Amino acid sequence: MKKIIILMGVPGSGKGTQAKKIAKKYNYGHISTGDLLRALDNNQSADPEDKKKLAEMKAGRLVADDLIYKLAFREMDGYLDAGRGVVLDGAIRNVEQAKKYQEYFVGKKLKDEVLAIEVALSDGSSYNRLTKRKVCPVCGFILPYSPENELKMDCPECNAKLIVRADDNPETIKKRIIEQGNQAIKPILDYYAGLGLLFKVDGEPAIKEVEREIERVIDNQELVISDE
Ligand code: AP5
Ligand code: MG
Repeated sequence: MKKIIILMGVPGSGKGTQAKKIAKKYNYGHISTGDLLRALDNNQSADPEDKKKLAEMKAGRLVADDLIYKLAFREMDGYLDAGRGVVLDGAIRNVEQAKKYQEYFVGKKLKDEVLAIEVALSDGSSYNRLTKRKVCPVCGFILPYSPENELKMDCPECNAKLIVRADDNPETIKKRIIEQGNQAIKPILDYYAGLGLLFKVDGEPAIKEVEREIERVIDNQELVISDE
């Protein structure tokens, strides 16, 4: 199986939910740039210049590429140098970043170890999911939405109080869908399709079903697509 698994998709497509499962099953490092940025935001001793760049995230826009490289490449170095694979969760959000990551993989002699998977979801489903999401600020657990879970206040994994993410308010969600919805991510998908690395999984069915399809791609790489 490939050492670099790139998960892409609109906000709320299930990148985090599925990346955690992949990382656990294959003992891969899980790199979510969103989580790294939120950790930076909570880090009192972090570089104030870096923290200033988080204003973009709070407004639902992409943060500066250089901050992403600084955070993500350091994390990847750690896992890859220890011989482990990585699953990238939303770590690539524009074509410039995609190219820079490819350069990084070439430098690591991992050019043939890259697999890109789009978890496809409509912008409408994205909005519906994000307006209902609850997460654990301590262990990162993402509570699957269901009528029973809607009433849950505590994390089933570590018992901490569940929260609604700061960017999961209707106004910021709408901005994220404009900035990072299906129209916005199309050029990145085209880039990976052009390299012959893109696979697509339908993100609309139940979590377990999406997980099964992603595993089929990882294990067999048989579900080739690309919208062309
Ligand atoms: P990030 O934290 O990555 O946010 P995002 O892209 O908006 O994606 P989400 O985390 O909201 O959704 P997800 O796809 O992980 O879905 P989840 O599994 O939680 O990034 C935050 C911000 O950081 C960005 O807006 C940007 O500003 C900045 N940033 C990050 N990376 C960057 C980069 N490389 N460059 C520049 N800026 C960057 O699932 C969502 C909900 O749906 C959950 O409630 C879940 O339970 C539910 N769900 C999941 N799958 C299913 C299913 N199959 N059926 C039903 N419900 C499901
Ligand atoms: Mg996420």
